[in-house]
Amino acid sequence: MNSDVIEAIPIPAFVISANDTLSSANTAFRALFPHLQIGRSYLTVFRQPNLVTLIEKLRSNEQTDAVEITVKRQTDDSFRVTGAVLAESDVLLCLQDMNETAAAIQLRQNFVADLGHELRTPLTAISGILETCEDDQEALAHFLPTMSREVERMKRLVADLLTLSRVESNLKRTPNQNVVLQALVGAASTPLAVLAKEKGIRIELAMPDDPIHFQGDADEITRAVLNLVENGLRYGNEGGVVKVTGRIDRSPKSPPNVLIEVRDDGPGVEIHHIPRLTERFYRVDNHRSRDSGGSGLGLAIVKHIVNHHRGRMTFDSEPDKGSRVTLVLPLEQSGS
Ligand SMILES: Nc1ncnc2c1ncn2[C@@H]1O[C@H](COP(=O)(O)OP(=O)(O)OP(=O)(O)O)[C@@H](O)[C@H]1O
Ligand SMILES: [Mg+2]
Repeated sequence: MNSDVIEAIPIPAFVISANDTLSSANTAFRALFPHLQIGRSYLTVFRQPNLVTLIEKLRSNEQTDAVEITVKRQTDDSFRVTGAVLAESDVLLCLQDMNETAAAIQLRQNFVADLGHELRTPLTAISGILETCEDDQEALAHFLPTMSREVERMKRLVADLLTLSRVESNLKRTPNQNVVLQALVGAASTPLAVLAKEKGIRIELAMPDDPIHFQGDADEITRAVLNLVENGLRYGNEGGVVKVTGRIDRSPKSPPNVLIEVRDDGPGVEIHHIPRLTERFYRVDNHRSRDSGGSGLGLAIVKHIVNHHRGRMTFDSEPDKGSRVTLVLPLEQSGS
């Protein structure tokens, strides 16, 4: 088989000749099975009876289905094998990695389960109230604020999910608008003035007078800063300060970056939680975060946005010393 043709197959693929020896293989296959060299029998690596049967059936032009095989390497790897007969009993075999597929299915199942759980909690609260207060207008009126809070929570959850999916679908586009940091931070802070007032927290912006220009997606950066400032307000102490700092970092060793730092003087987070904060639906203190309406998606969204900009995010915190989140984003997006 022409080596360009086999190379164009996007999954591991190999061809065995009439005497069962390997006659060609693409790079993906060779990376997985470096020990199986051209001219050696495929049976030295693949001894699965269902694969042998598949090959026999293909050679005798019988109807065949794909077969699943497990290959022992450092781990047990599962592949779904499909094949076709080429000229002179040569057989082409393609291996679809079932571990990757299984991992993706598992991820989706976990996500749906988590989401179901998040939605069930407020719905249970609302339907419980409606059931108990069916004939009692007075009690119903009493519980209206609770119902309204639960509805708000679901609205936030749905809005966060839509943002997350928008950022994910944007990943292929280079975020190369020319933006001005001061404008974005201003746009992120303004809608939070009400929450800041409620919590008695001051939002302090510390940025140079000269505009900081950089390349990015204006909506995404605004959303990221908004999420961080909102966290500072929600989890900060009453009467405290949330400080947003912006500057350019021009270290001689690397291309220039824009640094955005959001710091609060609240109770902070214990160190062992920090690596998990960007997981979807992760909250340190379920009750406290839930009571403040949090769905645990904010930092997952920020992380996606930072990755989209090929930047990085750090979260520093110590109990009772407040938290500091730093975003480091390239001043210019390469490939734009
Ligand atoms: N500045 C902070 N101080 C203390 N804890 C924080 C801070 N920022 C985040 N956390 C903790 O990290 C958790 C995850 O934050 P994240 O922003 O992802 O979700 P959320 O605020 O609960 O909900 P959402 O942002 O989706 O409305 C929060 O629930 C909170 O426990
Ligand atoms: Mg949040």
